[in-house]
Amino acid sequence: MKHLIAVINQKGGVGKTTTSINFAAGLALRGDRVLLVDLDPQAHSTIGVGIEPGSFQASIGDVLAKKKTIQEIVLPTNVDGLFIAPAHIRLDKIEQQLNTEFFRESFLKRALAGLGYDHIVIDCRPTLGTLTINALYASSFIVVPCEMGRYALDGFADLMETIEHVKGNNGPKEGFIRILLTKYDSRNKVSNDWVFQQLEPYKSLIFQTSIRRNEALNQAQMAQEPIFSFKSDCSGAQDYKALVEEFSNLWQNQTSEKN
Ligand SMILES: Nc1ncnc2c1ncn2[C@@H]1O[C@H](COP(=O)(O)OP(=O)(O)OP(=O)(O)O)[C@@H](O)[C@H]1O
Ligand SMILES: [Mg+2]
Repeated sequence: MKHLIAVINQKGGVGKTTTSINFAAGLALRGDRVLLVDLDPQAHSTIGVGIEPGSFQASIGDVLAKKKTIQEIVLPTNVDGLFIAPAHIRLDKIEQQLNTEFFRESFLKRALAGLGYDHIVIDCRPTLGTLTINALYASSFIVVPCEMGRYALDGFADLMETIEHVKGNNGPKEGFIRILLTKYDSRNKVSNDWVFQQLEPYKSLIFQTSIRRNEALNQAQMAQEPIFSFKSDCSGAQDYKALVEEFSNLWQNQTSEKN
């Protein structure tokens, strides 16, 4: 496997699910085999790729509860090469049960080891609880979507501290974290300037690609499909395609620097 990418921000509604679905679909459209892991009891990624909550027997919660293997719960999607490990509302209860287990932060990493995917993308819930810590622990790359606006960086320091705590010895920060600016609107100059000023210390970690505010992204989520099949010529599709390219180049450059 090349990458295990966790999409994390404990702030709600910043674009984690929109990014997880479209980034995973964008990677699959390049010909890679991709697993999208829905680690949020809200199950928005599951629904967003067209899988209805009542239509499957087992989900990622059963894997974390050690009742099923990942292979037993994975479902195909309408996108060639894109598979989903679905979530169910029960995952909330399973997270609470995990809280009393030893080595609880490593359950997901062990469950995902040795699978035949090129990339695994994990959509996290908006908390820094045990599920998110599992995603962080398992990940080789972290994407932090940040919604452009006055409160964009609320809780950001806590998030970076948690990432450092979990990934502390795993190499330089630059290598494995990127901030993704979402819902960007160039007309909001004052709030954009404010966010950029606050992000100055993290400048080197920001993806060059920003995701512009685009109603089609919202509609695609309601239509339960990735943006590329919903409206391939909209700015949302262009931005997520650019993100996939930037990510691939970033990784290629890092790999060639190491060699
Ligand atoms: N670039 C964008 N332009 C317009 N709407 C967007 C954009 N990105 C996300 N949205 C919309 O914003 C809402 C929140 O997005 P999303 O569900 O991806 O956030 P989230 O971080 O996963 O939320 P949660 O914390 O609840 O899991 C959704 O209605 C989504 O369609
Ligand atoms: Mg979400």
